[in-house]
Amino acid sequence: MKPVKVGICGLGTVGGGTFNVLQRNAVEISRRAGRGIEVAQIAARHLNPACDTGDTPITDDVFDVVNNPEIEVVIELIGGYTVAFDVVMQAIANGKHVVTANKALIAVHGNEIFEAASKQGVVVAFEASVAGGIPIIKALREGLAANQIDWVAGIINGTGNFILTEMRDKGRTFDDVLAEAQMLGYAEADPTFDVEGIDAAHKLTILASIAFGIPLQFDKAYTEGISKLTTADVRYAEAFGYRIKHLGIARRTADGVELRVHPTLIPADRLIANVNGVMNAIMVNGDAVGSTLYYGAGAGAEPTASSVVADVIDVVRALTTDPNNRVPHLAFRAESLSDLAVLPASAIETAYYLRIQAKDRPGVLAKVATILSEREINIESILQKEVEEQAGLVPIIIMTHRVREQKMNDAIEALEALDEVVSPLMRIRVEQLN
Ligand code: HSE
Repeated sequence: MKPVKVGICGLGTVGGGTFNVLQRNAVEISRRAGRGIEVAQIAARHLNPACDTGDTPITDDVFDVVNNPEIEVVIELIGGYTVAFDVVMQAIANGKHVVTANKALIAVHGNEIFEAASKQGVVVAFEASVAGGIPIIKALREGLAANQIDWVAGIINGTGNFILTEMRDKGRTFDDVLAEAQMLGYAEADPTFDVEGIDAAHKLTILASIAFGIPLQFDKAYTEGISKLTTADVRYAEAFGYRIKHLGIARRTADGVELRVHPTLIPADRLIANVNGVMNAIMVNGDAVGSTLYYGAGAGAEPTASSVVADVIDVVRALTTDPNNRVPHLAFRAESLSDLAVLPASAIETAYYLRIQAKDRPGVLAKVATILSEREINIESILQKEVEEQAGLVPIIIMTHRVREQKMNDAIEALEALDEVVSPLMRIRVEQLN
C-alpha cells in the first residue's frame, strides 16, 4: 500500500519534534498504522535547527500545504486562533483530515470546527492539545467510555506548576520563578495565559466536554491565576497539611457543571499534590472505575509530538472506516450532546482557606467568627500567627468546611469592611479530591 502523505504546518518546537519522531520511528509507526506515513510538505517561516528536513519540500505559505492535492492529513502546529483557524477550516473544506495541538483553537472554535468536519466526513484529532504527552483525551474518550464521569481535576499548566514548586521548595518569589520559566521556554508566548489560568482553562474546557458530553464552553470557565499567591500562603498551607496547586476542576453536580481553574489547597499526601516542576497530572473519577491518575510531561518537543503522531496513526487507521462509525470528536455522538448548564462561580461548592491580615486589637477574632457564623460558614480550624513587626498586623488563617461560594463572597465583603482588617484578604479554595 502506498504511504499516506501528510503536511506539517509550523516547524517550531512541536513541529520539529513531530517531524523527528515520524522519521526516527517510521518503521514502528508503519507497523502500527498498516501503511507508511510520509511528510510530503512542510510550511515554515524559519527552519528548525533541531530538525534535519533533508529533501522534504518546504514552503513559507501554509496554504500551499492545505491546498496540496497529494496531502491527506494536515498537521496544524502553528498555534493561536487566527491563521490556525483558517488553516483548519480550509483543510476540512478540502476534505483533508486534521491533527492539531492547538488548545486555544479547539476550546474557542471547536464546536464550529467539529461540525464542519462531520459534514465533510473528516477527522479533527487533538490529543496533543491537553497535557502534552499524556494520552488523556484517549483515556477519557475511549478507555473510560463505560463510566459516568463525576469529576476531573488536573495540573494542566506546567509553567504554573513549576512556579508553585519553586516557591514551596526554595522559598523563591513568584516574579523570580516566572522569569526563569520564560528563560527556559516553558511559558506561552504571553505568560499571562499560564499564570492567569487561561491556558489551563482552554485545556479544562476540552476535558469537560469529553467527560460530560457537553459543547465546548470556554467563555463560561471561571479562571483565577496564581500571581497573588505569597510564600506565606504556601507555608501556612503546609502547616495545615496541604499543598497549593493550580488546578483545573470540572465537576458534575445536580445543578450543572462546575468548570473552574484556580489555586487550590489539596492534602499533601495525595499523589497529585506531589506532582512537581513542569510535570502535569490529571485525576479522573468515574462511577465504575473510581479515581484514576494520569501523569507525564505536559509540554516539550517530543512529549507533545508523541501525542501528535499517535493522532496521525489513528487518522490513518480511520481513512478506510465509515465516518459514522468513528469515535466522536467529543466522545459522545454530536446529536447526543447534553445542554447541562455550566454553573456560575457563585454556585460552586467548596471549602476555603482564608488569610486575614488584621490589626492586633481585642475582639477582632470574635468579629471574624461572627461574620462567618451568621452566614452558616463552619470553621474547621484556625491559626493565629504572631504580629508581623513591620506592619503591626496579625495574620489569622482559617480553614472552613464546604459552603456555596455566594455565601463566602458575602462573608468576604463583610470581613473586608471591618476597620481592623486589611483589604483584600486572601481566599484559596480547598479540595480533598477523594
Ligand atoms: N505553556 C504551557 C504549559 C505549554 O506551561 O503547560 C503546554 O501547553
